[in-house]
Amino acid sequence: MSSEKLLAEVTGKYEDTYRKRTPKSREVLEKAKKYLPGGDTRSSIWFNPYPIWIDSAGGCRFTDVDGHEYIDFHNCYTTMILGHANPKVVAAVREQAARGTALGALVPAVTRWAELVCNWVDSVDKVRFGNTGSEAVLMAIRLARGHTGRDMILKTEGCYHGNYDPVVYPTDATGITRGTQRESIIVPYNDKAAAEKAIVENRHRLAAVIVEGAMGAGGMIAPRDGYLEFLRRVTTENDVIFILDEVISLRLAMGGAQAIYDIKPDLTTMAKIIGGGYPVGAIGGREDLMQLFSPQVNKVYHAGTLNANPITAVAGVATMEQLTVEAIDHLNALGEAFADGVRAVFERLNIKGQVTGLGSLHNIHFSAQAVVDGKTARETNKELLHLFYLGMLERGMFFPSRGLFVMSTPMTRQDIDAAVRAVDEVVTDLKPAIGELWPELIGKAPQS
Ligand SMILES: Cc1ncc(COP(=O)(O)O)c(C=O)c1O
Repeated sequence: MSSEKLLAEVTGKYEDTYRKRTPKSREVLEKAKKYLPGGDTRSSIWFNPYPIWIDSAGGCRFTDVDGHEYIDFHNCYTTMILGHANPKVVAAVREQAARGTALGALVPAVTRWAELVCNWVDSVDKVRFGNTGSEAVLMAIRLARGHTGRDMILKTEGCYHGNYDPVVYPTDATGITRGTQRESIIVPYNDKAAAEKAIVENRHRLAAVIVEGAMGAGGMIAPRDGYLEFLRRVTTENDVIFILDEVISLRLAMGGAQAIYDIKPDLTTMAKIIGGGYPVGAIGGREDLMQLFSPQVNKVYHAGTLNANPITAVAGVATMEQLTVEAIDHLNALGEAFADGVRAVFERLNIKGQVTGLGSLHNIHFSAQAVVDGKTARETNKELLHLFYLGMLERGMFFPSRGLFVMSTPMTRQDIDAAVRAVDEVVTDLKPAIGELWPELIGKAPQS
């Protein structure tokens, strides 16, 4: 049988099993298509043949509309650090909802929330709130441009910074390329020489360098060999603003990735965990820069009808007050146990699967080359990942279809063991097809 035919046959078998398990998700999707383009309302959650729809969630589990229970390793792309419907968050939201949800002035809880954020991140002297991480990035770039009087942004290939044209990824999406190329320089991630050359050569045009605390959506790849420390030094030497995007990486340590790598960016963008599951984005940083937002200085414009809305504020406070050192240690230990368990499975089955990431955030890749940056992450085997994904869903494991696994505090070692067992079962089932279709993936995985 030809490779194409065999791949179509295996994929058809996995997708058929999925369809049979999820008729109600399919039904809901068909209805949704009448009002939502393609039955979807954000680019990231779609996978073939169609995504599941969720009925309800609690702790680290949820039930889909077909009644199947899943362990949630998705956690809304790293947001739900305390899992779903955390009792203290629910109580705080209930109470605030009865007292007003969108008001034309601030509520005192916002100050407590800001205090928690400033205390969490050493380099954040002051903070401003918005409604998405994309908005936080937009504001950071606007602030850098306002402060320096320059326009260009330098970003790294594969680092994701949301939905704002100068930084959006992938850069080849129609309608985005033009804006991106005009405003941005893109260099390979984890490549110090390329970054230094681009920064030095463009120092008179560059407003800011932006990079993630650890590359998230692009493949969950940690910075290596002092990469962030290096960027901090070179941006300082060339008088360019250094923005660390910690929208995902903030959860890795008290203090975020910048505490792990011992750097102080000029500006930090945040979102996800700080809003307790409600719409949020925040920009924080150096006092003198942040003061440009102040109404008394009024140099950089920052508006937003629902900025720091009371529901997000109280949910953020209730969440951050539960994020103790012990909680973060628990999450990171679970993440490392998961990564070790999965690596052991790949080794025993002699498959070139790799687990990248750190702490509570890891990504599974299938590749014969080491996954170390945006390019090598993009070049991994997505056909096999798709089959693996459907196999894991069938076994009650939910995570983003790009292979990311995210821990939440309600999880236990039993949940991790169940996930590792599921990986074992799925890869064992797929191994004959891997041997036929992708023989280059049989063998010992390269060190990533
Ligand atoms: C590192 C990073 N920055 C920015 C964003 C954008 O955040 P939002 O989706 O809330 O706009 C994301 C979203 O996943 C992200 O991962």
